[in-house]
Amino acid sequence: MRIDTNLLKEILDDLQVDADELKEIAAALRWDLEQGLKGAEYSSLKMLDSFMNMPDGREQGKYIALDFGGTNVRSELIALDGKGGYESLKRCSRCLVSDSYNYVTAKTTAQELFDFVADTIAQLLADEDKSENYYLGHTFSFPSRQIYASDAELIAWTKEFAVTGVVGQRVNTLLSAALERKGLGFVKPVAIINDTVAELLAAGYQYEDAMIGAIYATGSNCCYMEKVADFGRPAGIINLESGGFNKLAPSKWDVILDDSSELLGQQRLEKMVSGRYLGELFSILTQKLLNLPERPHLTAVNMSELLQDSSATVLQGAKALQPQIGTLMPGEAAYLRDVAKAITIRSARLMAAVFAGIAWHIFSFQPGKAMHAAIDGSVYELMPYVQENLSRGLYEVLGEEGALVTPVFVKSGSSLGAAIAAAVCHNGQ
Ligand code: BGC
Repeated sequence: MRIDTNLLKEILDDLQVDADELKEIAAALRWDLEQGLKGAEYSSLKMLDSFMNMPDGREQGKYIALDFGGTNVRSELIALDGKGGYESLKRCSRCLVSDSYNYVTAKTTAQELFDFVADTIAQLLADEDKSENYYLGHTFSFPSRQIYASDAELIAWTKEFAVTGVVGQRVNTLLSAALERKGLGFVKPVAIINDTVAELLAAGYQYEDAMIGAIYATGSNCCYMEKVADFGRPAGIINLESGGFNKLAPSKWDVILDDSSELLGQQRLEKMVSGRYLGELFSILTQKLLNLPERPHLTAVNMSELLQDSSATVLQGAKALQPQIGTLMPGEAAYLRDVAKAITIRSARLMAAVFAGIAWHIFSFQPGKAMHAAIDGSVYELMPYVQENLSRGLYEVLGEEGALVTPVFVKSGSSLGAAIAAAVCHNGQ
């Protein structure tokens, strides 16, 4: 076997976050959140106003929901019934990356990117009546400064996107121009929101006490409903951009990961938590442990497959890794599974610390407030060990108050939330 068990032990130790550390992280997050609300530059949380309040269910009509936050761009026609119900009428999605093209690198221009996005809408409306206007809600899942509810300026790309000419620009303005170029001027982008905000809006249809919205997928982030109008800002949903939180102690393995990322030194929490980076970290550690000449390309899906195999021999799980790293020797797959498990559990515990920090802030103006924290995303939905460790972490930090925060999976919030936002803005609610 190629694995040095001392190195393995060192790695597993490095990935531990005990209860005391978790409490410190949650307290630091609350501190940054409250400093960020005051606009303090030393906060690592952007605390971005969404200009959105919770919907009341009266939203009605047919809207286009555009969900752009990863390599899959989805558009959907959604009918809201004005009683808190909805129906998906049609969907269309396209991937920004294929064997023959890649629309996420610096070689792509803003115009090329948004033309591609507009194409998904052209496909969606191919057989629809084009004599009427369509109102579009855009879930754009990158840190953006809201100018008004209908437009926002991209602050920086995350998730390794690097398209040229979008940072600093108004995203819905770029989209509208692309729609015009495609002859789709009758499609009016009337709202733009972050995916966490969309998730919270969508959750509001099911849970009256939804207070936190989170995405736990390729990227990760949270928003919450701020009830106090203060420091010159209105009450409303605030996007933390919690992926940028940096009061953490990254291990030397996290530093190696950071060194080869697009945003050096930034998105510290996201790089320890989200799916895009879990696989990356696992690749780094696998290379190290197996002494491989090159870093393999392992993903969170590979980790998940490995973790689903709880047998002693891990034959199935090892098979899933084979295409990337070749045949494993007896015993190696079980050790790699330990590493995948430690990376995953650390991720879930850190996410719990974020929720706890937000909950502490909410308790400061609503003591004893019971709330739902709505979460969407493949990591939360599918990765073994995530859900139970997130819940356990919440209790470790919050103690009895842990019972007040109920994590709940709300699927496809990004699209429904976009339709709700479009309705709210179009109706001037
Ligand atoms: C982005 C956030 C987004 C999250 C989840 C992060 O990389 O910065 O805006 O909410 O990914 O998609």
